[in-house]
Amino acid sequence: LQHFVTVKDLHDDQVMALIERAIYFKNGGAVPYFEQPIYAVNMFFENSTRTHCSFEMAERKLGLQVIPFDPATSSVKKGETLYDTLLSLNAIGVNLAIMRHRENEYYKELIELEPTQKLDIGIVNAGDGSGQHPSQSLLDMMTIYEQFGTFKNLKVAIIGDLSNSRVARSNMQLLKKLGAQVFFAGPSYWYSKEFEEYGEYLGVDKLVSQVDVMMLLRVQHERHTNETGFSAAQYHERYGLTLERYKEMKKDAIIMHPGPINRGVEIASELVEAPRSRFVKQMQNGVYMRMAMLEAVIAGRHLGGL
Ligand code: CP
Repeated sequence: LQHFVTVKDLHDDQVMALIERAIYFKNGGAVPYFEQPIYAVNMFFENSTRTHCSFEMAERKLGLQVIPFDPATSSVKKGETLYDTLLSLNAIGVNLAIMRHRENEYYKELIELEPTQKLDIGIVNAGDGSGQHPSQSLLDMMTIYEQFGTFKNLKVAIIGDLSNSRVARSNMQLLKKLGAQVFFAGPSYWYSKEFEEYGEYLGVDKLVSQVDVMMLLRVQHERHTNETGFSAAQYHERYGLTLERYKEMKKDAIIMHPGPINRGVEIASELVEAPRSRFVKQMQNGVYMRMAMLEAVIAGRHLGGL
């Protein structure tokens, strides 16, 4: 891969290869040897804890050189475009840019270049607006695969703030491709026709006793333009994983959440680290999946002698 910006175009065998590679790294498998140094920069224009630190951990485990970049003190604040910012970083030797941005598909202008443009840098999308979150989606697939050993006929409920969620979009695409059965639940004002081709929209109480995976989404207050009247308690009661609903889950079913969690909203605070919760495992797996993703782009660009 030259860039890693979406999961939409991945084939199921590519997804499985990434999962196998991430599991190999997790089991202590050797990292590739690079003949020349590879330089990476993490550019997070939206807040992040997990994805940012996890990518940096993955970069360091792979032996990449990490160049610091702080959007708040960068020349983007003086009006420099994203393209010109990357052109500058590329000119000083940066090979890979791992970027999160609030604009959907911000990466298009950076990868669909005119013949006269000189940019030669691999873009890894760490989340674009409500568009895609490839690394979260792939670490989620890894976590599901580790649990069940297959995706075929697994029932997965994606619940909550669907329309604002890049996690929901990426995951419904990959889950369908891999043969899982997807369901949606949550407030109707966050559900739309775009989800219909991926799965059925049902009530949380109907789904909770039937599905293998309860995938809870964060309520993304920062993306809501008109939020008067939102009640955390009411959301929790109607759509959240309450202690009562937890008891209704299938014996082997698991809970997933991409984080950050609004405790007591999407999920009862007591359940965040419950035996069926894979929240911590998702974050652990993220490091190894990001190593596999970075390696795929490094190999695709023939960096470091690969
Ligand atoms: N899941 C996720 O993207 O978390 P961060 O926003 O903390 O990176």
